[in-house]
Amino acid sequence: MEAALNYIKEKTGDFKPEIGIILGSGLGDFADNFKSVSIPYKDIPGFESSQIQGHKGQLVFTELEGKKAVIMQGRYHFYEGYSMQTVTYPIKVMKKLGIKTLIITNAAGAVSGDYIPGELMIITDHINFMGTNPLIGKNDDSLGTRFPDMSEIYNKDLIEKAVDIAEKLKINYQKGVYVGTTGPSYETPSEINMFRRWGANAVGMSTVPEAIVANYCGIKVLGISCLTNYAAGVTDVPLNHQEVIDTAEKVKESFKLLLLHFIKSL
Ligand code: HPA
Repeated sequence: MEAALNYIKEKTGDFKPEIGIILGSGLGDFADNFKSVSIPYKDIPGFESSQIQGHKGQLVFTELEGKKAVIMQGRYHFYEGYSMQTVTYPIKVMKKLGIKTLIITNAAGAVSGDYIPGELMIITDHINFMGTNPLIGKNDDSLGTRFPDMSEIYNKDLIEKAVDIAEKLKINYQKGVYVGTTGPSYETPSEINMFRRWGANAVGMSTVPEAIVANYCGIKVLGISCLTNYAAGVTDVPLNHQEVIDTAEKVKESFKLLLLHFIKSL
């Protein structure tokens, strides 16, 4: 960690980000046109080189709407075989860099028929269905406590702000509960039925580990899912990754708009 922070300082000098952003599928180019310093993950001590399709795998340091931000262009997924420690290490680094707020974005399947692909879902809570927890192992008391409370991972004030902005911008949005699975296989219709009964509205293969660690570290979290498809069995159309990419691509302009207005409001 010390080495990572020193390396980043070498590249960014006195730049002190207050906001962290994790870019999910479709949003990868969000930071492309901002004047920034980019550091590939593979160069940062403790990071591993990310290989997921369409993702660059770098930290981007930039100013957005007058706020200093560090942006994760691409994330580590548990289904790629990375440990939970690797998946959540960047969150700990961003905490040590001084961020107070983390915006987590992702692509997700719509679990109930009244949630529609193309809508953005502001996450109100999550269900950890990954069968493990990123905080397992020796606790680092400098980051958080051994048994951290998770009753409000997704900050209510930030949710309210995001809702207000979505309303003002007339963006199609929902609020709801995200369930995180390991992937990489999509779910079965029976699993989706179960998730719906549990109260989940969207399902995806990320976000939960990062959100747990951010909350543990005392970072305020806003989570937004881009609903890219109906989850398995909601309709009788089979799922495929291309549909996820295509829908995310269609929604990305309004997603970016929401993000920028949100950041401005902070
Ligand atoms: N299931 C899991 N992850 C996803 C989905 C889905 O239907 N869509 C996008 N990511």
